[in-house]
Amino acid sequence: MADYLQISLDSWVKVGEGGNGITYENPATQDVILKVNNDRSNGLEAVKKEFDTSAAVGRLGLPTPAMKEIVRVGDVFGLVMERVKNKKSLSRICHDEPDRTEEMARLLAAKGKELFATPCDTSVFPSRKKQALEGIDKAVFVSKANRQKIRAYLETVPESTACSHGDFQPGNLIMSEGKCYWIDLGRFGYGSPMFDIGHLYQICCVYAPMKQVQDIFHMTLDQFHRFWDAFAKEYTGLEDHSEFDNLAGKHAAIDVILRPVFAEPTFPEKLFFGLQVRKLAKRFF
Ligand SMILES: Nc1ncnc2c1ncn2[C@@H]1O[C@H](COP(=O)(O)OP(=O)(O)O)[C@@H](O)[C@H]1O
Ligand SMILES: [Mg+2]
Repeated sequence: MADYLQISLDSWVKVGEGGNGITYENPATQDVILKVNNDRSNGLEAVKKEFDTSAAVGRLGLPTPAMKEIVRVGDVFGLVMERVKNKKSLSRICHDEPDRTEEMARLLAAKGKELFATPCDTSVFPSRKKQALEGIDKAVFVSKANRQKIRAYLETVPESTACSHGDFQPGNLIMSEGKCYWIDLGRFGYGSPMFDIGHLYQICCVYAPMKQVQDIFHMTLDQFHRFWDAFAKEYTGLEDHSEFDNLAGKHAAIDVILRPVFAEPTFPEKLFFGLQVRKLAKRFF
């Protein structure tokens, strides 16, 4: 096994936290940050995958921090990457300046359109549609009838070589001096933009009442709803985006089905996912 530099967290200061890990800065090496994922994704294989995928996204020409190296942090592994100085995520801006919530939603829609207009390298990245079909086979927590309905819909989703972020939401677009950077790219792939949009809908319109979700995003329930409304209006160009919402709702169910493809769920998670899909299938299928 290749040797990885062993570093101690003693000289690092925690500066950020997302859904999957913690980021640190070191006063002695100000050009980089260190990201250490939680238990589920801090093994060498997972970290290597996030590193390689993120580096490949950089090669597509998308604005994203450069990957520097994989390091050992005690028993686990971490990623060292270029630090975006004086950054704020769009969700942090929503928290600090709530009046800018709609502006941030429109910005995510505009940057999302740029992302979805970028052709992906299909020899390097996975197809989201294929992953979703795989997810249906794995989704033993979903009733047979619902799996059939969702599979039938999924088969009608056109294959697309558009870039697909995999965790498309305002915490994963950071801004510095007017420039935006995509972060958290471990699930990057290609496919219909509706996969990413369904994920955003799931957060803003389904998970938003949950306290943990409000804590991770530093946003209130009302802000999530305002965010979605402004995003959908900007993305579709329509005041009445109910049709778009229905499509996003279908993809929200698919988003839940994708979870076990990305990480093996625990038993309570399987129960939770099962309930979520049942609720979404009843409403949107
Ligand atoms: N390259 C970077 N430069 C500066 N800050 C960053 C960088 N990457 C991540 N961060 C900070 O760390 C937080 C979590 O990073 P992220 O990759 O989204 O982790 P998670 O997988 O936990 O969501 C971000 O919201 C941001 O504040
Ligand atoms: Mg994140």
